Parts: sequence; C-alpha cells; structure tokens
Amino acid sequence: MKLWGGRFKKGTDELVNDFNSSINVDSRMYKEDIEGSLAHASMLGEQQIISKEASDKITSGLLEMLKRMDNGTIEIDPTSEDIHSFVEGTLTYYIGEYGKMLHTGRSRNDQVTLDLRLYLKKALVDLKQDILCLEEVILEKSKENIETIMPGYTHMQKAQPITFAHHLLAYAEMFKRDIGRLSDAYKRTDEMPLGSGALATSTYPIDRNIVARDLGFSKVTLNSLDSVSDRDYAIETLSALSLIMMHLSRFSEEIILWCTGEFNFIELDDAYSTGSSIMPQKKNPDVAELVRGKTGRVYGDLITLLTVMKGIPLAYNKDMQEDKEALFDALDTVTLSIKTFCGMIKTMKVKKENMKKGAALGFTNATDVADYLVKKGLAFRNAHEIVGEIVLECIKKNKMIEELTLDQLKSFSPIFEKDIYKAIDLLTCVEERKVIGGPSTQSVKLQIEALENFIKELKEDN
Ligand code: ARG
Repeated sequence: MKLWGGRFKKGTDELVNDFNSSINVDSRMYKEDIEGSLAHASMLGEQQIISKEASDKITSGLLEMLKRMDNGTIEIDPTSEDIHSFVEGTLTYYIGEYGKMLHTGRSRNDQVTLDLRLYLKKALVDLKQDILCLEEVILEKSKENIETIMPGYTHMQKAQPITFAHHLLAYAEMFKRDIGRLSDAYKRTDEMPLGSGALATSTYPIDRNIVARDLGFSKVTLNSLDSVSDRDYAIETLSALSLIMMHLSRFSEEIILWCTGEFNFIELDDAYSTGSSIMPQKKNPDVAELVRGKTGRVYGDLITLLTVMKGIPLAYNKDMQEDKEALFDALDTVTLSIKTFCGMIKTMKVKKENMKKGAALGFTNATDVADYLVKKGLAFRNAHEIVGEIVLECIKKNKMIEELTLDQLKSFSPIFEKDIYKAIDLLTCVEERKVIGGPSTQSVKLQIEALENFIKELKEDN
C-alpha cells in the first residue's frame, strides 16, 4: 500500500517504483519500526491526541503483527515502498480505520532515523561483545606465550627480540580502543529524533520525552531540521568499523606471513584453512586473506555515506535512503569477520621453537651489545659504531655475535669481558626490558592484568 497518492493523477512508473523502493534493505528494521510505532501510539493516547480506544487498538494490532512477523505468518511484501509503508499498511489491513491514525504527528523522515538509531544501538552492543570475545582469545594466547621469544621487526627486518605475548597484546590495545570508539558512537546514537516530523515538528501536543523514555533513549535531539537530516551517528560508526577492519587486516597480514614456509611461526587449524583444486600440498590461509580483502569493502561503505551526505541541503532528502545499505553491509561484514577471525586465532598452533630460532638469527641482540658497552662507560654513538663493525665481521664469517670468542670481541673493544655472553643472551635481552609497555615477563604481566581488568569491567557493564 502507498502512503501517498491523493495529489497524483497517474500511477508511478514501474521502474520508478523499483528504483524508489528501499524495502529490500530496510525490512530488517521491522522490529524497530514496530517498537517505535508502539511508543508513538501510546504517547498519542496519553496526550489525548487520539482516543484511548484508538491507541489500544493500534497497540494490540502492532503487537500481534510483531508476533506474526517473528514467526513468519506475515511475510514482508517485497513490492512495498519501504518498511514504514508496509507496517502501517498491514496494520490498517488488520485493524481498519484506527490504523490510519498511527501516523498522526509523525513523518517517515523522523521515523526512519528513529528506526535506524534503535537498530544501531543494538548492533553496537552486540559488536562490542564480539570484540570482547576476541580480546578473551588474545588474553588466553598471551598467557600461554609469555616466554615465547620471537623476533620483533621494523621495516620487515629483524630488529630486537620480543615475545609472542608482547606481540599479541599490541593487538589487544587496538581492540580496546575500538571498543571505546563504539561506545562513543553509541552515545551519539542514543538520542531520540521522533517528533521532529518532516522537518518542523508538529502542531499536536506531542511529548517527545515520553517516547524517549519508553524506547530507552537517554535524551531527545534538540533541533528538528538537524534531527531528520543527521546521519553523523552512522558515519561515526562506519569510521569505527573501518578502524576495526584495519586492525583485523594488519593482524591477518601477519597471520598470512607467519603461515608461510619461510616464517613457519604458526599453523592454522584445518577447520580454518582451505586447499587448492590443483596443488594437493596446499593449505591456504583464506580466512585471513578474506578479512584483509573485506576491509576495502568497509572503507567503501564509509566513503559511500560521507559522499552521500556531503551535498545535502537541510533537511531530509531522498539521497539519504542510501545510508542503510552501506551501514548494514559494514555491520554484517565486520561481525562475520571478527567471529571467524576469533576462531582462527583460538585454534592456531604456535611453533615456539621456530619463533625462537627466528629471533636468534639476524643480530636481534646487536642493540644489547651496544648497551653493554654503554653501561661500561662508552658513549652510545661510539658503541653503535663498534657493534656495526662487529656485525660486518660476523656477516663475513657467517657467525652470530655470541659465537665470537672473547679475544675476537676484545679486538673491537677492550671493554668486553666474559659477562658479555650473558648480557646478550636472548632471554636477557627480553627480560631486561622492564620498562612499562615492554616485552619482559614483568611488563607483559602488567599488560595482561590491564586487559583482564578491561574485560571484567566491560562484562560488569553489560
Ligand atoms: N525509505 C526512506 C529512507 O530510507 C524513508 C523516508 C522517506 N521519506 C520520504 N519523505 N520519502 O530514507
């Protein structure tokens, strides 16, 4: 059923009907549309804008509809213009004239943004929960790998030894910030726009605070023009989703590298890998690759909505109907990515010995040789120069620094003593970095404790 038509002499062109319709995308907000309509109808009754009888009839009709839509006995008509038309039309079909009173003092312009905010509020809570599950998996893996030494890299060149726990906990920090950003987006999504009407509110004595209270919003929006044309909350969410994907994508890139024969640091579980149709030996990290690939999609969704909104004069314009496809696509993509990624990390096998071997090669303890000389009185720049020469010599001899004899070391600097070997042992290199944020057991335990507290507090909040 169309919600308009009185002023038209002619029916709509069939292509225009298809082009104009958003039901394929917005039908997933049917619960929120009914929820919002229930609050609106009850407020209309309370304010005596419609009779108590009308309000009651609408309420029971909507509740019945919700039940039947949930159990599938009412199916959404794909030829409807949008979910709002469908709900109002179906209600009127069932309860007759009273159904036609529901839209008093309301416009689809304030209705659609109400529905979207209601939908998004739930989605944001769920998404935070999904990231929290990932944090729990990272926590578990970190605890198992506090002493797993691996090479840390800069410029993709071996740099200094760290531990696998230290490396994993870097991602835990990123996901903590992601959860914070979703909470921020939630705050601004949690404002109730209904009552703004098409653009200039209404002449009925509606009470927007009652509707906000009934729907669990913490406040009402303050300017009706802004209310119907604001999609900042969706863009903020898309921006937070883009950052989540960026983090997942960087993590994926490392997973892919670590699975290669060249690194061989981890092995993914068979349940999270795929094979090749031609090469029988292959075991491919498709999950990680897809997460990396889908990141582009979510960035695209963000750019879509930013671009849709950039030239829109106040107030509502139909361009804005494009908002939901982008937002829903990003929410679906991120949710599925996080859930799959989480299982992949939980089940992966860590090859601790290979990580340690990787750290032993590539002179990751060279900084510590320089630091040894500094602690015995040399200026850092001079120590750096000496160790550079030692490394050059080692490359020539195909040896690690710790394989040089004390006499050989003394030929570069007389300061070297027997204690150098202990000082540049990989375990010492890691354990001596006790600074906040560092790789030593002591520092990593602090990071683990902070993550545990973060998870606990968030769980208590829910
Ligand atoms: N389907 C529309 C949307 O998603 C709902 C609002 C339509 N309002 C209007 N006056 N045409 O944005």
